[in-house]
Amino acid sequence: MSDEPQSADGDVDTFAGMRSLRDGYVAVVVGSTGGLGSAMIDVLRSDARCGTVVGLSRSTGLDLLDETSIERASLTVGALHGEIDLLFIATGILNVPGVDPERSMRSWTSASLLGVFAVNTVGPALVLKHFLPLLRSGTRSVCGVASARLGSIGDNGLGGWVSYRVSKSGLNQVVRTASIELGRRCGLSVVAGYHPGTLATGFSAGRGAGLARRDPGVAARLCLGSLDVLPVGSSGGFFDAFGGSIAF
Ligand SMILES: NC(=O)c1ccc[n+]([C@@H]2O[C@H](COP(=O)([O-])OP(=O)(O)OC[C@H]3O[C@@H](n4cnc5c(N)ncnc54)[C@H](OP(=O)(O)O)[C@@H]3O)[C@@H](O)[C@H]2O)c1
Repeated sequence: MSDEPQSADGDVDTFAGMRSLRDGYVAVVVGSTGGLGSAMIDVLRSDARCGTVVGLSRSTGLDLLDETSIERASLTVGALHGEIDLLFIATGILNVPGVDPERSMRSWTSASLLGVFAVNTVGPALVLKHFLPLLRSGTRSVCGVASARLGSIGDNGLGGWVSYRVSKSGLNQVVRTASIELGRRCGLSVVAGYHPGTLATGFSAGRGAGLARRDPGVAARLCLGSLDVLPVGSSGGFFDAFGGSIAF
């Protein structure tokens, strides 16, 4: 029997630290209060090669709906830490408060479509706008963005949950577009979207009964491990937690 840590559903966890980054690397996690984001913070803090982990969230003053707060957070991080080596955006919502994810076209509303898009697509785009310039340019640096398989147009065989799907499809386009500019400025750096799996977090609590749920700590380790070995030529892509490519 393997002695590698495994989640309840048998994922083999081979994470051994962010070995592609310089020793003493600086990591920033946006969404540090969430299930995935807080697990990322724990995983990075336990990596002996990590020098500093900065967690950002609404509780530290960064609100995805307020660009000024995002810019302020980036200026603070830049002033305190200079260049950063790792950025992970682990924020997201499934639905706007009080509106259930859509089951049919009859329930589509502009309030839901625009509200989820603002948090899941525009918010991370503005985080990339203000934080990618902080990514270290002289050596490898990495950025991961939590997306979702439901954002895959090619994989959509079931319909439903249109606000969430649209927002994550748009997010994947944001990541691809950002990757092109990042590649021009930092030829050694990568940015990519990740589907962390269905997680045992508060995100979709009460929905999808019977679905296997991945422990967020295991998801964090898998996503970070995949990001660590992502080749520069794959920057801008959309991947599962094991680094397998997902159709846009
Ligand atoms: N959970 C799943 O099954 C699953 C499956 C596929 C993909 N994902 C993706 O994985 C990511 C993380 O999911 P999770 O399970 O960790 O979710 P979660 O536990 O609900 O955490 C969501 C995070 O987003 C933050 N957030 C929401 N609105 C914000 C805003 N306006 N400004 C700043 N931060 C905001 C929350 O901060 P507050 O604490 O301030 O609310 C929290 O830190 C999401 O992108 C999600 O789409 C999750």
